[in-house]
Amino acid sequence: MRIEKALESKRHEVDFDNLNFGEKFSDHMVSFEYRDDKWQTPEIIPFGNISVSPAMCSFHYGQMIFEGLKAFFTGDRINIFRPEKHHERHNRSCKRLCIPPMEKELFIRVIKALVTLDSEWVPRGKGTALYIRPFVFATENFLGVKVSDTYRFMVITSPVGAYYKEGLNPVRLITSGAYTRAAKGGLGEAKTPANYAASLLPAEEAKHKGYTQVLWLDGIQDKFIEEVGTMNICFVIDGTLITPSLDGTILPGVTRDSVIILAKDWGIRVEERPISIDEVIAASKDGTLQEAFGTGTAAVISPVGEIRHHEETIIVNDGKIGGLSQRFYDEITGIQYGELEDRYGWILSIPL
Ligand code: COI
Repeated sequence: MRIEKALESKRHEVDFDNLNFGEKFSDHMVSFEYRDDKWQTPEIIPFGNISVSPAMCSFHYGQMIFEGLKAFFTGDRINIFRPEKHHERHNRSCKRLCIPPMEKELFIRVIKALVTLDSEWVPRGKGTALYIRPFVFATENFLGVKVSDTYRFMVITSPVGAYYKEGLNPVRLITSGAYTRAAKGGLGEAKTPANYAASLLPAEEAKHKGYTQVLWLDGIQDKFIEEVGTMNICFVIDGTLITPSLDGTILPGVTRDSVIILAKDWGIRVEERPISIDEVIAASKDGTLQEAFGTGTAAVISPVGEIRHHEETIIVNDGKIGGLSQRFYDEITGIQYGELEDRYGWILSIPL
């Protein structure tokens, strides 16, 4: 791996006590190419602008994917959370977008090297992390619609605080109405920019109505709950944790997976299955809806206090954070910050 260090650090320009999400970027980045049917020598270079042709095909047809994972400061180490699981999803997204996969060893080696080099950028406060954003885009220059022969893989990192301004306070969601995020056979389960582009207009409209995010319903019957776009969704109904199954239209979240593993370990009944908005409304009315929360790398555990669907308003747990939501948050962040034992082998630890 070739490493070119930045002449000067920009770290002093960042107020680490007031971090928003994804607004500041660390000194270095990973950048290397795929050509002649293989990934070339990885490089770490100073963070900065890149030069590309306006004819670059990913500008025009969106052949690109990304990942998002986090590194945490523990005092004497930096913990990267579940890099192997993120690599697995990276390659699944690549497959759907006809992008060449990457070997696990290479994916993890470059991320580890970048985080090690920029270890001073991992923020220290609880609730903060270094967000790691690997991404790949097609780089051939042409205007025909076809699979590119060349790609660039990059990783940038950003010291972050909470994703939602609400922090751990419950968010308010509104169902998707006239819009659809994904349909079976589409791109829904791939982490690709198109899914996020599709979410922008509905999210703007939701915000104008005073809601934090859109709760996506399925594209065919407009009935079954899918995800929130920036996170997966879980409900606790009558003591059972219910989350929509991974049927191809929703993102296979790493935090979702972690919550399911923990819940099963704690003896909580878990159901991954289609769940309709009507079932949630009925559970709210008969008093069995106990909690709702989103799960995501950026969002961690985000309690849901209210869901609006047409004329119905569901208030969950009096708009307060639920006991189980808090327990998942405490357990996951405890493992991430090295305060709790890494019982599942989720942590890649870098000694400082
Ligand atoms: C994540 O949770 O890592 C995401 O990618 C969600 C959002 C920031 C796009």
